[in-house]
Amino acid sequence: MVREEQGRVAGARRFGRSSRGSGERALSPADQQRFPPLPTTLADGRRVVVRFLGQEDGPSLGDMYEGLPPKALRHYGPHPLDREHALRNAAKWDHPHEVVVVLETAEGEIGGYAWYRWRDAEAEASGFGICVREDYWHCGAGRALMTRVLEVADAGVGPRLMKLTCQHANEGAVALYLKLGFEVVQEGMCGDRRGFPAEPQYWMERRCG
Ligand SMILES: CC(C)(COP(=O)(O)OP(=O)(O)OC[C@H]1O[C@@H](n2cnc3c(N)ncnc32)[C@H](O)[C@@H]1OP(=O)(O)O)[C@@H](O)C(=O)NCCC(=O)NCCS
Repeated sequence: MVREEQGRVAGARRFGRSSRGSGERALSPADQQRFPPLPTTLADGRRVVVRFLGQEDGPSLGDMYEGLPPKALRHYGPHPLDREHALRNAAKWDHPHEVVVVLETAEGEIGGYAWYRWRDAEAEASGFGICVREDYWHCGAGRALMTRVLEVADAGVGPRLMKLTCQHANEGAVALYLKLGFEVVQEGMCGDRRGFPAEPQYWMERRCG
């Protein structure tokens, strides 16, 4: 808690530096307060908290990345999933163009996270991503994370259009996205990823707010 408060002070200057060129609204401290940590009971009875990413979450996020099974590596993002990337992500916890929500387990670990980010104040769309630790799959963790992220987006933070890509074979993610308001707008192939061959994917979009 102390570290989190220190982080807020250290990062305070960063908030609000976005201009308003395309009408996009950057993430502000007021938005962070408007969506406080949300205690949640998963379908299997485990109690977790869904909250914004904090500066102190880097090591635990790194643990999550490094524990991801091959099937998650096949589906989740082109960026490196190592400790260094996790620390970099946590260090920009207060970036005005990134909304990152984590699922904190009862043990204080990161059990998953979901995010959307956009290039700058002129961006017409954000990109969405989600990843849950394997021992939290199929119990509502993905839905809980994504619901919170979309609440923030629907409250006016970020561009009004959100985009993602998802491989056809990732049936759970496709089901989740369709249930939470995304539509398929295009189909094609994603390139080979981390040693997995190229495969068909959807481009999906959702209007926010
Ligand atoms: C995709 C992922 C985020 C789903 O997380 P999860 O915690 O297992 O999802 P939930 O338990 O909240 O389930 C979400 C919904 O999808 C449905 N669903 C899940 N798996 C499904 C499947 N194989 N087929 C059909 N529906 C499925 C669930 O029934 C649920 O619907 P409901 O909330 O109406 O009951 C998780 O599996 C993950 O992190 N995978 C690795 C990374 C990844 O693939 N990221 C997405 C890249 S595009």
